[in-house]
Amino acid sequence: MDMLIKNIMLAMANNKRLTDYIAAKGMKLGFARRFVAGEELDDALKVVVDANRKGILASLDHLGENVSDAKEALKAAEYYHAMLDVIRTQNIQSSISVKLTQLGLDISEATCRKYIEGVVQMAASHGQVVEIDMEDSSYTERTISIFKGLHRQFDNLRLCIQAYLYRSEKDVNDLLAIGARIRLCKGAYNEPKEVAFPSKEDVDANYKKLARRLLEARCYPAIATHDEAMIEHIRRCLKELRVDQSEFEFQMLYGVRRDLQDGLRKEGFNLRVYIPYGAQWCPYFMRRLAERPANTWFVLKNLILER
Ligand code: FDA
Repeated sequence: MDMLIKNIMLAMANNKRLTDYIAAKGMKLGFARRFVAGEELDDALKVVVDANRKGILASLDHLGENVSDAKEALKAAEYYHAMLDVIRTQNIQSSISVKLTQLGLDISEATCRKYIEGVVQMAASHGQVVEIDMEDSSYTERTISIFKGLHRQFDNLRLCIQAYLYRSEKDVNDLLAIGARIRLCKGAYNEPKEVAFPSKEDVDANYKKLARRLLEARCYPAIATHDEAMIEHIRRCLKELRVDQSEFEFQMLYGVRRDLQDGLRKEGFNLRVYIPYGAQWCPYFMRRLAERPANTWFVLKNLILER
């Protein structure tokens, strides 16, 4: 049943008419605020300042994906430039997280390369970090190729790799060989069994294996998970490999397991929270619902009561 709900939610995340309808309802009802900081940069900045006050780093994501119009892609890139300026002038501790389809990857690789390069260059000149999210598997090869091109010129980058993909072990090895920085997550999209492990057990096993390799490589990885079993595994690896707390960071999503976030920070672990905001929040929100069917019932109840 849970798997069915998950698949339905992920399919719905790709239905623009539906996500527009939910977006119109969601912020009014306020339920989307559980995972999305708000529609405006000011909303998100308040959350970042609050996190920074507790010693938690942030990564700001101005939500948007699958842009098919070059003007929109340019607007998204310009928006990120303005955001980097605000982060610098307000002196807040935040990287930015970017999806390449927001910067025109669906239009052409050349368009996307041009826009992401401008963003990374500006971030580099301010001493800021750009984290590149990983989207569904139809984009993996192109995302890695663009990342590698950027990595040859800049060192203020981190790329997300998804443990559910069979190819990720090789990708991690290749990326480590060139000294790239990696954020390891499990993966949030609906992938066929030809490309991704279908069972949670296998995804978790691969996550553990790749996390250990990243810690061993001492490349300041980002361990992005809320899974206590993965966190226990990391604690074991730290002991066995004699890796210090300061040699990596945990990353978690805004609104997910705040108790765990506060606990890890109090123990002295580096922690970064991914803070998404913006009007195009619905596909992101649906992926968060898909991760936990109990969230879906809560939203449906709100929608039904509203009518
Ligand atoms: P898992 O799904 O097993 O969840 C473990 C526990 O965490 C659950 O039992 C529950 O307690 C809690 N939990 C997890 N999700 C929840 C939710 N939505 N609501 C409430 N509780 C929840 N994916 C991707 O494909 N590309 C990307 O670029 C990124 N980027 C990214 C950045 C960061 C900082 C994080 C933390 C995650 C991502 N992800 C991602 C998402 C990732 O792939 C994955 O879908 C989620 O992190 C959930 O997986 P967990 O590792 O938390 O484990």
